[in-house]
Order: sequence, then C-alpha cells, then structure tokens
Amino acid sequence: MDNFAGGSTVPETETDAAVPGVPAKPLPVAELHLHIEGTLQPELIFALAERNGITLPYSGLEELREKYEFTDLQSFLDLYYANMAVLRTEQDFADMTRAYLERAAAAGVRHAEIMMDPQAHVSRGIPLEVCVNGVASVLATSQEKFGISTMLIAAFLRDLPEESALEVFGQLLAMNAPIGAIGLDSAEVGNPPSKFERLYDQAREAGLRLTAHAGEEGPASYITEALDVLGVERIDHGIRCMDDPDLVERLVNARIPLTVCPLSNVRLRAVDTLADHPLPAMLAAGLNVSVNSDDPAYFGGYVDDNFAQLTTVFDLSDFDRARLAANSIHSSFATEERKAELLAELNGRELAS
Ligand code: ADE
Ligand code: ZN
Repeated sequence: MDNFAGGSTVPETETDAAVPGVPAKPLPVAELHLHIEGTLQPELIFALAERNGITLPYSGLEELREKYEFTDLQSFLDLYYANMAVLRTEQDFADMTRAYLERAAAAGVRHAEIMMDPQAHVSRGIPLEVCVNGVASVLATSQEKFGISTMLIAAFLRDLPEESALEVFGQLLAMNAPIGAIGLDSAEVGNPPSKFERLYDQAREAGLRLTAHAGEEGPASYITEALDVLGVERIDHGIRCMDDPDLVERLVNARIPLTVCPLSNVRLRAVDTLADHPLPAMLAAGLNVSVNSDDPAYFGGYVDDNFAQLTTVFDLSDFDRARLAANSIHSSFATEERKAELLAELNGRELAS
C-alpha cells in the first residue's frame, strides 16, 4: 500500500534491490516513543537482581516470561513497575540504557527520544540523581558510540496527583537535569490531560518540548484535551483519533505527529490483531504517523520488528516504509541540522549500498 499523503521527503525508488538470503539493511529512523524501563529484558532483570541481592518473585526466566500475557494497559503496568525493583544504582540504569542503544542501533535507530519515569524510582527510595545520571551518562556518548543522537524525556505518571509531578519536575529543574521534553504516561482512562495543566505550563515556561500519551486506551477527547489544554506538539499513540473524523481532519491539517506503537497495541489489546490495526487507515487519511516500540522487552519487538511485522501483514512497500521513516525524522525534536542529516541518509541509502 502506498496511498497516503504528507511529509516532504519522497523516497526515491519504489523497490530496493533485495538479495535473497541477505537481510535488508534497516532504514534510518527516529524512535520517538520508547520507555527506557520498558527495555529491561528478562535476562537483564535476573542479572541486576543477582547483582543487587534481590529475590525476584519468579523462579526463573520461564516463569517471568509466562507473565508477559497482558489483558490491558493496567495488567502490563503492574509487571512493568514491579520489575523496576531491580534498578538500584547508577550502574543499573546505565547498563539498561546501553543495552537498548546497542539493540536500537542494529534496528536502524539513528535518533532516539527516550522517556523515563522518575516518579516510579523516587517513590521506591531511589534518589533522582541516581536514575537521571545513570541514563544520562550513557546518552552523553551515544552519538559517538552508537551513531544515535538522543533526547531524554521526563515522563510523569498520570495516575498520581499533579502535586507529585510538580514536585519531581521542580527537583529535575533544580538539579539541571539534561531533559529536553516532558511526557505523560501510565494509566490513561480516568486521568485526563487537563489534570496536568500546571505541569505543562511550567515545562513550557522552562523551554521544554511537550508530548503526552493520549488516545491509547482513552477516548479521542483526551487527544483534543492534550492539544488544547496542555499545548502538546506531539501525541504518543493517538490511535483512538480514528473515532472522531473532525479530530482526524484537525491532526492532518496541523501535521501533528502521532507516535504509533503497533506491537504494543496488539499486546495490550487496544486492537485484536495486527491485521486490525488502524495504521494503514491512519496513513491513508494523511496523518503524520511514525512507528515506535514503546516497551520493546515486553511487547515482542524493537522498531525493526514492528516494521517487519507491519510489512508482512499489510504488504507495505519500500515507499511506505520510507515514508514512515521520513515522518519519524520530521516529527522528532532533533535540531534542523540533525534532521537534514538523517533525511539525507534516508534518501541516499540506495546509493550507499
Ligand atoms: N508506560 C510504559 N508504557 C506505557 C504505555 N504503553 N502506556 C502508558 N504508560 C506507559
Ligand atoms: Zn508509551
């Protein structure tokens, strides 16, 4: 399928020359929707538990993996927060971040905007400096070591009171934490964006970029609220916009980026199967959609796996995939210079190989 509009970068060819048996080189992409705590692989969970002398409530990898059967967002969040217990030292946060970047580089990720949930760590007695510095120390050399430019996004838990978010946000500013944006995540239904109006006002005042999860499980009206009340530039997920044609028209006209996570939506039962995912309809509507992995250790795949499964199920062409990659780069908070570099890499990839 290649009948969708939008974006200014037109892929140069309709087909890449495929060499039988040789895996295609992944497209250069920006990953815009990624929770670093959602990259903790079961093996790393056990290794960190051992290093920190923590007894996990699972006898081994197999029993842990059996828990990766989710019925909705909350059933995933319960396990996701529980597994964070193994993250105790700066080294733990650094090791988790390094493991993600290594895997992301192999997936073609060339720019990553990485969310972390500071409140989930502070509430366990982990100092803010430990989690922020652990992740940030690895991000600082990411471009040099992995070829991936990065931005750290502080995400706030919407099922906690706004006062908690304001307190932690104040501490992040006071420590001069190297964050470029804020986000809003965790249990969506019953926690509308408007609950966080003051937080977003303060973040805007501080010169930060603004994004928020909306329309994952929650209604299309949460997307409208995130735009109108919080003033976000980008929507994480946003798939429920398809319930509201007027909202779709608004998102298309304003080129609002939607950071869609197809495998996540399947595993959290936002859609029944990948074949039922609205991504093709969103593209056909002209929405500015990118493909992202959300919590890849929990949902069965990184960004390349998302692309591969979408390609199989929807018969995406090279043109479609290049359009999605271009959307991700255009929708990033990277500098214009970095975006131009990545778009040139994307457009020149046939020549380089
Ligand atoms: N935190 C981590 N992954 C999330 C998701 N998919 N939705 C909301 N909060 C999250
Ligand atoms: Zn998410």
